[in-house]
Amino acid sequence: MELTITGRKGADIPKEFVGLFIEDINYAVDGGLYAELLENRNFESLEAFGGEIKKDYFVKHDGLYAWKTYPENAPVLLSVVQGSPVSVHNPHYLRAEAGQERSGFANKAYDGIYMRPGVSYTVSFYARSVNYQGKITIAIAKDGNILCGKSVAVEPSDAFGWNKWVRYGLALGVEEEVRNADFVVLLENPGTVEFDHFSMMPEDAVCGIFRKDLAEQLKALHPGFLRFPGGCVVEGSTLANRYRFRDTLGRREDRRYNWNRWATHGNSAENGYHGVYAHYGQTYGIGFYEYFLLCEYLGAKPLPVLGVGLACQYQSHEKVDLKSPEIYEYIQEYLDLIEFANGGTDTKWGSVRAKMGHEAPFGLEMVGVGNEQWEDGESRFFERYQLFEREIHKVYPGIRLIGTAGPELDSARFHAAWDFYHAHEGEGNFVYAVDEHYYVKPEWFFAHTDYFDQVPRGTKVFFGEYAAHSTDPFRQIPEKSSERNTLEAALAEAAFMTGMARNSDVVVMTCYAPLLARAGYAQWNPDLIWFDEKSVCRTPNYFVQQMFAKNAGDYNIAMEIKMESGKLPCQVSYDTKEKELIVKLVNASAEARTVSFVFDRVWKKSDQRVKVIQLAGRQLSDTNTLENEAIQPEEKVVMMEDNQYRALPYSFSVLRIPVEA
Ligand code: AHR
Repeated sequence: MELTITGRKGADIPKEFVGLFIEDINYAVDGGLYAELLENRNFESLEAFGGEIKKDYFVKHDGLYAWKTYPENAPVLLSVVQGSPVSVHNPHYLRAEAGQERSGFANKAYDGIYMRPGVSYTVSFYARSVNYQGKITIAIAKDGNILCGKSVAVEPSDAFGWNKWVRYGLALGVEEEVRNADFVVLLENPGTVEFDHFSMMPEDAVCGIFRKDLAEQLKALHPGFLRFPGGCVVEGSTLANRYRFRDTLGRREDRRYNWNRWATHGNSAENGYHGVYAHYGQTYGIGFYEYFLLCEYLGAKPLPVLGVGLACQYQSHEKVDLKSPEIYEYIQEYLDLIEFANGGTDTKWGSVRAKMGHEAPFGLEMVGVGNEQWEDGESRFFERYQLFEREIHKVYPGIRLIGTAGPELDSARFHAAWDFYHAHEGEGNFVYAVDEHYYVKPEWFFAHTDYFDQVPRGTKVFFGEYAAHSTDPFRQIPEKSSERNTLEAALAEAAFMTGMARNSDVVVMTCYAPLLARAGYAQWNPDLIWFDEKSVCRTPNYFVQQMFAKNAGDYNIAMEIKMESGKLPCQVSYDTKEKELIVKLVNASAEARTVSFVFDRVWKKSDQRVKVIQLAGRQLSDTNTLENEAIQPEEKVVMMEDNQYRALPYSFSVLRIPVEA
């Protein structure tokens, strides 16, 4: 293939071209990025029933979920009660009545407690004596052996017999790695004590919140923006189950527990509408405030998404009528969120932000209006969008809104959505970009690298969820598996990204989905990063995103291609600071391909040495695993006196060619 790098400048590449989308799916947040090790730490766990087909969702409180007596068969009565909780927003707490000394209870902590030597773990909990005198021991135990532990004396009831909640804290550490262990609480004496809000956090958590290894791998992706807190969790399976901005603020004790909409994923009559992830819940240890902090840590622009009074349209028919005054509560949520992010400390929500520890505004510029909404006469989504747009822009005329093209590409509802947004072009700030979601086969991505060459300019595209799926995504997913994150899928995404990048005048932001998956806990597969309690697996898809984000360039350079056979998907950009042409090339075939470059006379190579970053494998089915990240980009310097580059079979290459400005 002959590739001429012309002297013609193309579209600017926005700084936020490659970003991230985070949603609590696959235990990505609770059980994942949130560094909290304990499960059901506040005894609020809910067991979810129902499913997409029956649409009959309900939850049962299961306060003792993830807890058991310790030692097994110890004479201790555990009851989850209500009455006078630490926070009325989370009304349940544990009452432990020990019949003999050194009996208590233990937490299963997902796959068990994992501790690294050299890291200190902060344990905290609330307790109050009912008729107890003595100490409580917090320990980490495995196979009945205590590996480490510390005790605190429980404050007795006061002179009036009043027993009040007291927060206790201690630190634990180990000298050798501990895996699959129990978090144990022992009453050293017989008696009754009440407990609530246990926590065990590693001291190395980023910002005291985010699991270090995961946060670092997110940062290494160099994301330009972060879309949060979901997808479908924003909408909820029911309106009551939706993600509410206000429930996620303030003290963690006050953040109202919610069941996770993915707890019922895959349910059907065959499993009695009750699946293995029925207890998947949201503590909101990471809520809106923490997502804004995460954006700061990542250097990414925040893109929060809120609901529009429609529960997930796949899952439910619940909606708030547009004539009902209740719809203004949903609109108010947008206004409060924007004030929370940007308002002065003298405003109601700006002062909440300041009290939580962040006086300076977060600099919010955009908000997503709905997730995968579509017009069907019932939802009245177009009218709904117009109402939300009008009310939000009345107060915040400058905020950029992201609309939605619904859940699938090229369908009648997709085109109806685009017709709607196009019809309103020219009405000021009506919509900045429209969110499109593409979960399709690798073949589709390979065949459509020119997809955005033809789309109308004007309203921008936010390519907000996509991934190449080699087979049906909804089949039974193997328990531990990054097996669908194949090199083929990664190359297909890279190929399509070359087309999006070439059209960055219209495609302004892109992000892969879903981002994170805990092995053995995934409702959705493939995912960008896999992890377990100890390790992280960066998929080939991860490296494609990273290579694009780190080598975006400032603007496109027009190219011309001559071929003897099969064109390789490619894109050329220019990095003004480094004075380098950046060429991205995908060769998904089994043969090496030689690319001959022709440089327009405006480009004079300042050095024959070219930096090449190359992701390649031996076959399209190659994957990475938690044990082995075999597919990784390699960086090398190649001499290019002959202006030729040999692209390996099954490879994605980034070439950085130094030129005189
Ligand atoms: O990314 C997984 C899900 O896919 C998102 O929650 C939803 O928006 C889409 O259907």
